[in-house]
Amino acid sequence: MTRGTGDSALNFPAAVLDAKPYVPDWAGQDRRGLIRLDRNEAPGPLSPAVADALCAYVRDEGVHSYPEYPRLATALGEYCGVPATWILPTNGSDQGIDLCVRAFLRPGASMVVARPEFVIFGHTAGLAGGSVVGVPYPSDLRYPYQEFRAAVAARKPDLVVFVNPNNPTGTPVDVEFIAEIARSVPDVPVLVDEAYYEFTGATVVPLIQELPNLIVLRTFSKAFAMAGLRLGYVVAVPEVVEQLVKLRNPFDVNALAQVAGLAQLARRDEMRAMVEEMMGDIKPEVVGFFQDRGVVVHPGAANFLLVRPEQPEETVAALREAGILVRTMTHPLLAGMFRMNLGTREEMTKLMNVYRDLTNTGLGPETER
Ligand SMILES: Cc1ncc(COP(=O)(O)O)c(C=O)c1O
Repeated sequence: MTRGTGDSALNFPAAVLDAKPYVPDWAGQDRRGLIRLDRNEAPGPLSPAVADALCAYVRDEGVHSYPEYPRLATALGEYCGVPATWILPTNGSDQGIDLCVRAFLRPGASMVVARPEFVIFGHTAGLAGGSVVGVPYPSDLRYPYQEFRAAVAARKPDLVVFVNPNNPTGTPVDVEFIAEIARSVPDVPVLVDEAYYEFTGATVVPLIQELPNLIVLRTFSKAFAMAGLRLGYVVAVPEVVEQLVKLRNPFDVNALAQVAGLAQLARRDEMRAMVEEMMGDIKPEVVGFFQDRGVVVHPGAANFLLVRPEQPEETVAALREAGILVRTMTHPLLAGMFRMNLGTREEMTKLMNVYRDLTNTGLGPETER
């Protein structure tokens, strides 16, 4: 008998029944060997030294013991300029989002965020039974400062969320504005997702001392090239960390994520060199390529762009045909756009060549028709 297509006889809460599972674009495809620009991942594998550290750990210490985290919290505290007691390692920053939303949103409670926001926020808020007050980004995708300020003042939310810079819009938020909002609602948690911090250098971590309602989420999935290992962390005052740790299971961060994270922190100069090349050289070149061809492009502040080709569906399909995955946007504000993260120089050259060929053969604005 086949199962799994109808309603369950079990008594799931309505919030679970109403939720949709998160299914990434191109799910189920074998992505190996393709140029993967669809998930805002880092382009290259871990450096051989980090891979060696992982192998040595498995060989010499093994993975038969549960992980412990004191070294990681200390190293992360040093990286962030805060004491180790301000750090909570998480299983990716998705888990940081989940912990904070579950901690602060009970049924009927509300969360204010600029929309469309990183999708896991709405998903976890829905599961918690909370409501989302979405302040829309305007069509130019700039941050809606005034409207956001007004929404926080009017709605007295239980949780305020900033995604800085936001995914999928790429929009940065002025750190001073985040501080202003945090100051205006001192008893409301203000969650700041800084998943792309390494690409922007903009952070509110130094403000946490003065504004202890700030809670920052970070990840090793992006600039540190560890999406497959699932390592993130929360930065907050110890009084907040002490509560959030109760919502995380004791061993949710695996030992190998910790080993690789420590090795990456010890080599952060390599990460910085990669970021500098990507943001300083590769990104302007790719943005310029689209702009020169009259294609609408939103560069955003992070390692990804939004592109609005003349024929979106056909373009995404043709790129896929050429071995390049990009992400189709479904939110109405971003209709007709695809999101692509930056890759290596070689990958970007291939993307630009393929795109040029496509448009020259009939799929784009510069084609004569
Ligand atoms: C803004 C934002 N926050 C969080 C995440 C989740 O990252 P992680 O892999 O650490 O769960 C992503 C991933 O794309 C993201 O774009």
